Amino acid sequence: MTDSRKKLIAGNWKMNCSRAEALQLASAIIADASESADSDILVCVPAIHLADVSKLTQNSHVKLGAQDGHWETNGAFTGEISVSMLGDYQVDYLLVGHSERREMFADSDERVAKKFAAALKNDIKPILCIGESLEQREQGVTLNVLQEQLQAVINAVGIEAFANAAIAYEPIWAIGTGKTATLEQAQDVHSALRSWLANHNAEIAENIQILYGGSMNAGNAGDLLGQSDIDGGLIGGASLKAEDFLKIYSVAG
Ligand code: 13P
Repeated sequence: MTDSRKKLIAGNWKMNCSRAEALQLASAIIADASESADSDILVCVPAIHLADVSKLTQNSHVKLGAQDGHWETNGAFTGEISVSMLGDYQVDYLLVGHSERREMFADSDERVAKKFAAALKNDIKPILCIGESLEQREQGVTLNVLQEQLQAVINAVGIEAFANAAIAYEPIWAIGTGKTATLEQAQDVHSALRSWLANHNAEIAENIQILYGGSMNAGNAGDLLGQSDIDGGLIGGASLKAEDFLKIYSVAG
């Protein structure tokens, strides 16, 4: 039931913030986010700011996340940062499979599964992002697309691995567009995903946090988070303003 699942309010800063802005934003969030038994708060910051922000989050209950990481521990992969290196900065969460990485940086289902597995190996909780395009939604294949994205990771790591992971449903057409999924659209997908996961493992399906992402903001968060199968938010634009992000966290309970 909803009450048994803690909410997770996650900010995805994407490629935003200078060093000074990152420190200011993280400090403002840490200063004003009071601890809650019902919800966790997380900031997924650009890799170059992890060291700085980690010094702040370590002494707080705000959790720290990274936006990407390579599955190999080290090697000749110019420009990459390994998931194991993230561990040095007390990173709690790793985003994997974000649609921007799938679309612009060739993150295939296979690469996503490797990153997911690497996160778990390094005691970092992966947040597996899945989502359909507008065209796919209009063709009526939304659930097929989402299930394929999930199945690829389940095939690689097993359903049990999802005991230490979260899922973020982010319809691509709702990301950065101001066009949020309706409450019904979002709840229907979340509930269908949970039922589908229950065919693999009922306990994991019941306990896993399924976050919604796509133009969530301080105005619509209360209604979205009030849906029984929406266990949090993955927030882009509205996570860059401390006040808006904290408001979303406060309505989460
Ligand atoms: P917006 O909240 O800006 O739509 O971004 C959503 C997102 O992609 C979070 O990962």
